[in-house]
Amino acid sequence: MMGWNQQQLQEFDKLGYLFVPGLLPTHQITELNSAVPRLLAGEEQSDGIHRERERSGAVRQVYLTHRYCPPFKALSKNAAIVEPVKQILGKDIYIWHSKINVKDAFEGTVWLWHQDYGYWMWDGVDPKLVSVMVFLDKATLNNGCLMVAAGSHKWDRLEHYADEETTSYKQWCVDTETLKQRLTEQMIQPITGEPGDVLFFHCNLLHGSGHNMSPLPRKTIIIAYNELNNKPRSVEKPRPDWAVARQFEPV
Ligand code: SIN
Ligand code: MN
Repeated sequence: MMGWNQQQLQEFDKLGYLFVPGLLPTHQITELNSAVPRLLAGEEQSDGIHRERERSGAVRQVYLTHRYCPPFKALSKNAAIVEPVKQILGKDIYIWHSKINVKDAFEGTVWLWHQDYGYWMWDGVDPKLVSVMVFLDKATLNNGCLMVAAGSHKWDRLEHYADEETTSYKQWCVDTETLKQRLTEQMIQPITGEPGDVLFFHCNLLHGSGHNMSPLPRKTIIIAYNELNNKPRSVEKPRPDWAVARQFEPV
C-alpha cells in the first residue's frame, strides 16, 4: 500500500507537512549518491543538467536530474512518493522542477524563511503544488537541517522581498517584522533524519534552514509536483525550463 491513510492525510492538512522516516531503502539512496560526483563535475552542454553555483564556482544546486539522470528519474516516478502527492493534489500531476541542494560541509549556507509559493506565484501558477524532500545524507541540527513552521500553510501567502545580501544568491524571503508578528518558537520544527527519510510539504508552508556548521554534508533532493491543469500562465519575466517546467507529461 503506497498511499497514505486518513490519519496521515489529516496530519498533512493540519500541519502542512508530513515526515516519513525510512521511506526509501538504503540501496536506492546509495545508487542516487553514487551519481552525485558526476552531476557536480559535468557540463550542461553535454548532459543537459543545470547547475547553480556559489560565487566561488562550487555547485550548490543541481536541476533537471529527474529528466536526464536515470536513478533520479526513477525516484521522481517512485510510487511511494508519487501516490501520496496524487492523494493530496488529485490524480493528474506533472513535475514542476527538481533540485539537489548540496549544502556542503561548512560551506552550505542559510535559506531564509520563505514559502515556495512566494517564488512560484511570479511564475503564473496557483498554489496547488507539493514538494518532496528526499534525504540523501543525514540531516542534523549541526549540518543545517530544514526547519518548518507547523501550520503556517494556513496563513496563505505572505509578502516576500528579494534578499541579495545574506548569501551569494538572491532569495525571496519574509521580512523580520512579519516573522516577529506571526512565527512563534513553538511552531518551529527542525526536521532531522537519516538518508532515505522523506518530507512532504505544502507550497505555502513557511520553511528555512541554517548554515552547515558540521563536517557532514547535508544533501537532499527536492522534487516539486504540480497539478496537471496548473500550467504556467504568461508572466512578465518567465523563468527558464529548469525552474519552471514547460513539459507536462503526467507522472
Ligand atoms: C529550499 O527551500 O529550497 C531549500 C531549503 C533547504 O535546502 O534547506
Ligand atoms: Mn523552499
